[in-house]
Amino acid sequence: MTLDSAAAPLEIDPLLDDPATRIVVCCGSGGVGKTTTAAALGVRAAERGRKVVVLTIDPARRLAQSMGIDSLDNTPRQVKGVGGPGELHAMMLDMKRTFDEIVEAHADPDRARAILENPFYQSLSAGFAGTQEYMAMEKLGQLRARDDWDLIIVDTPPSRSALDFLDAPKRLGSFLDGKFIRLLMAPAKMGGRAGMKFLNVGMSMMTGTLGKLLGGQFLRDVQTFITAMDTMFGGFRTRADATYRLLQAPGTAFLVVAAPERDALREAAYFVERLAAEEMPLAGLVLNRVHGSGAARLSAERARAAAENLEDSRIVDQEAGNAQGRGSAVPEGSSPEASETHEPPLEAPAPDESDASTLPAASAAPESVASVTTVEQLTAGLLRLHAERMQVLAREERTRDRFTALHPEVAVAEVPALPGDVHDLAGLRAIADRLAAGGTTS
Ligand SMILES: Nc1ncnc2c1ncn2[C@@H]1O[C@H](COP(=O)(O)OP(=O)(O)OP(=O)(O)O)[C@@H](O)[C@H]1O
Ligand SMILES: [Mg+2]
Repeated sequence: MTLDSAAAPLEIDPLLDDPATRIVVCCGSGGVGKTTTAAALGVRAAERGRKVVVLTIDPARRLAQSMGIDSLDNTPRQVKGVGGPGELHAMMLDMKRTFDEIVEAHADPDRARAILENPFYQSLSAGFAGTQEYMAMEKLGQLRARDDWDLIIVDTPPSRSALDFLDAPKRLGSFLDGKFIRLLMAPAKMGGRAGMKFLNVGMSMMTGTLGKLLGGQFLRDVQTFITAMDTMFGGFRTRADATYRLLQAPGTAFLVVAAPERDALREAAYFVERLAAEEMPLAGLVLNRVHGSGAARLSAERARAAAENLEDSRIVDQEAGNAQGRGSAVPEGSSPEASETHEPPLEAPAPDESDASTLPAASAAPESVASVTTVEQLTAGLLRLHAERMQVLAREERTRDRFTALHPEVAVAEVPALPGDVHDLAGLRAIADRLAAGGTTS
């Protein structure tokens, strides 16, 4: 399948080679191939000479193993087996560890310990909605600040919606230094011990009512948490905003990954519009797992017609073949009625008598008949499969064309559906080759 002229092909190699490209973000809805695309781009960019780090999120275990990032330690590790002049480093985002590091970096040791040990903090850091997205952005900010790599490729969390990646950090940021916390913090911010006392009074009053519902210990935990986090307030929002600006910078390129299916492409279209609204630079759309066919010249209709023809002629042949087969196996009989008169060992099995015990004695004739019909059946079956595949191709093409009609400005690269999962460097290279070949999948 070749892209028609409406969609510009997405040129992956110039993007990866350009020293001005510093961050590539792979986003898209759940399960479309974001992690695979990010890793494949990492391998390719490194083999073309760049020093790359790939920040993956929840990679499949086998893929992580083959990249040597099987253990979660939140530090980039160099990937062995990557050829060429560049280097590939990869890491898996450890959400909780990233959160802990922020606390350690921004609070004195005693406070940091108080926060880290606090159960309220522990549940927040382990999986508050949006924490993963927020932490991915945090980590990106940290990696960029170190300036150790000339290209950072970012995978995004397996959210239902691609938009979550942009929305969640802001939501979490505004929760952390938003109204709720400000309200609880207000007395403490009045200053010093008086404030703390006031906070404690407020807390103990709240404990009276809420404590019955939630338990006094819980409220004390919240209180300690909030008091200890005092130094960090404002920081979360500020850093989320800073990373947001990083995403808008000219050195950043977003790749939207989507499957050639209606819902995925609708989601991709929303995301494209949102990126434009946020003034974030979109490099293009990666249409992943596109189906192709080496025999695309044979249309679905013609394949189906040919299958029908074969099946029609098979019925005719089978009738002739059956008569012939019985003729040779049972020389004196030409009809089942006639054969029934013969003694058991010679009797050709009638259709309702294909019992295993009768087969060894009289297998020659039915088998030769079966092999004739099997070839034809098989051919007809293959033609029907081909027809179905051509229909899938046509549907994918229509879906893609609808997207292109809506967003003709978006460059597109297609990656075919490979026969198996992608879990090693060879598989990643295969994906990267197809990505770089861009507009063609056949
Ligand atoms: N072009 C392809 N051909 C064959 N298999 C593919 C292709 N792209 C991805 N896969 C496989 O599809 C599965 C999902 O891919 P991947 O994990 O990259 O998706 P994801 O978008 O990161 O998912 P999640 O949203 O859960 O993070 C994996 O098993 C991967 O090996
Ligand atoms: Mg993933």
